[in-house]
Amino acid sequence: LAPQDMAGLRVMVTLGPTREAWDGVRFWSNPSSGLMGAALAVCAWLRGAEVAAVCGPGVTAFLPRGVRRLDVTGAREMHEAARSLWPDMDMGMFTAAVADFSPDPPECGCGRKFKKSEAPEGFSLKFSPNPDILQSLAAVCRPGQKVLGFAAETTPDMDALLPLARAKLARKKADLLAANRVNAPDSGFGAPTNSMAVADAHGREEIWPSQSKADVAWELCSWLLRI
Ligand code: C5P
Repeated sequence: LAPQDMAGLRVMVTLGPTREAWDGVRFWSNPSSGLMGAALAVCAWLRGAEVAAVCGPGVTAFLPRGVRRLDVTGAREMHEAARSLWPDMDMGMFTAAVADFSPDPPECGCGRKFKKSEAPEGFSLKFSPNPDILQSLAAVCRPGQKVLGFAAETTPDMDALLPLARAKLARKKADLLAANRVNAPDSGFGAPTNSMAVADAHGREEIWPSQSKADVAWELCSWLLRI
């Protein structure tokens, strides 16, 4: 039986990609499946927590009825949803692969399809930065609130992950940071498994070889409870 060691905790998980509209039919996004976030949401729920999942588009991962699901599309919409939930939460698990930038809409306005005939010579896109959801919410933590951040990295090997996890932990002011490789076949976007380097704000760190995202979720929940 799952221990009920998260009973009484309210947990928010952000998961999946965001989709940044450019015109009426085109967008900028990434291949995140939301699987890691779904595993965390289910794990926290099974261990007794009240869970809200803020899901980016295309997150088809099953979520039990017991998990409150909010569907959003763009980074700004995800930010708004997470920001309104955050004051009532005890933990935030930020697994979403949020687009750091949105393409600026074409001059014609973003509601209609931009035609090939409008740019016979080709064209360049300009991007504007999106809010950093984790960083902005970690900055307004009340005492007792815990923040778990992720980092999608394209490092050549596992050894390079730990310094990246430590640096991001400090920069984002998270309590726990899990850096995973998204350029390895057994880890990252869409894979059922993850290999990662994990660091916490108390100086503890571990390297985890590839294991199922369900097992990763279990270990991360246990770690969050300990700090
Ligand atoms: O800086 P980087 O994008 O690598 O940080 C990754 C972490 O920050 C993840 O936990 C991700 O969910 C979160 N993040 C966010 N909003 C952004 C960018 C990243 O919440 N705009």
